[in-house]
Amino acid sequence: MTKEAKHVLITGAAGQIGYALCPMVAGGRMLGLDQPIILHLLDIEPAKQALEGVKMELLDAAFPLLKGIITSVDADIACKDVDIAIMVGGFPRKAGMERKDVMTKNVTIYRDQASALGKHASKDVKVLVVANPANTNALILKEYAPGIAPENISCLTRLDHNRALAQVAERLGLHVVEVKNVIIWGNHSSTQYPDVNHGTAGGKPIREVVKDDAWLDGEFLTTVQQRGAAIIKARGLSSALSAASSACDHVRDWVLGTPSDGSWVSMGVVSDGSYGTPAGLVYSFPVTCADGKWKIVQGLAIDERSAEKMKATADELAEERDLAHECIAAANA
Ligand code: NAD
Ligand code: LMR
Repeated sequence: MTKEAKHVLITGAAGQIGYALCPMVAGGRMLGLDQPIILHLLDIEPAKQALEGVKMELLDAAFPLLKGIITSVDADIACKDVDIAIMVGGFPRKAGMERKDVMTKNVTIYRDQASALGKHASKDVKVLVVANPANTNALILKEYAPGIAPENISCLTRLDHNRALAQVAERLGLHVVEVKNVIIWGNHSSTQYPDVNHGTAGGKPIREVVKDDAWLDGEFLTTVQQRGAAIIKARGLSSALSAASSACDHVRDWVLGTPSDGSWVSMGVVSDGSYGTPAGLVYSFPVTCADGKWKIVQGLAIDERSAEKMKATADELAEERDLAHECIAAANA
């Protein structure tokens, strides 16, 4: 029997991640090859013509699963009845900018779009925030959309997770699917902690197989933490195809479940205080997903060095939260 179409909102759809993401979603990469899709594409007035161009190309690609395309520059129209909301719209970081620099521009967008989603989206809408500062935009969205359950609001750290898997796989000459259970703790920023202490490569502990703690505790960490900046330097633009692909991975695993072998993924979710993190912050944890719900993996042993790194990234998130509140107060004044 044909499934009912799912309504998927992509904000910032005329931008570069949007251009990579739309065909992936329409092609079934996010919700499966048996799931019809209606795309809701939102951008802003200056990008209206480009947005229509994206729609024309999506039509021309003749995707069998794509049952409709709604384009709009009005959030109230674009958010109507959406089941999944991928929030990409905003201003990207440019060379030389830190994530905090983009905050002033982006948090007020998330305050306003929270209210459009709260009013018009399906009551069980699942939200993924991609735009930076991703964790803090998601936090603001949670605060300004009280009608959306906090567990339905998340942010993208799956790109960092995938980057960590790929670095270990490259080092060992393995295929990436042979590497499992790395963890990204905390913020999608250079303070994130990519943790390999519980991970495996070819079924054995990563540290045992790599046999180079200096690399794992040094160059590996900084490569993953700085990968976004390295891509910006190389391309003159921030990651787009890998961000789009990881966004599909994030939503697919959330909706359809993580593998039954118990392996986990990293997601930015509202902290319940697990592992001593401040409750309420949007913090990246190892999670497993089933029946459309994520669950933080509990009981992992955390050494002192890891605990320090997990706290440092939580401290940055608390600072970002305070700064975001100041930006919103200033915008309201
Ligand atoms: P981009 O500039 O190419 O596209 C952004 C789009 O958002 C533009 O079309 C712009 O018109 C639109 N936009 C701006 N304000 C909007 C609003 N109020 N409502 C709807 N649309 C709006 O940027 P991009 O490269 O596609 O990146 C998008 C965001 O994703 C950036 O914030 C970037 O830093 C972030 N990013 C996050 C990750 C991650 O892993 N979390 C990875 C890569 C990029
Ligand atoms: C990334 O990780 O590629 C993006 O978040 C871009 C950035 O600003 O670092």
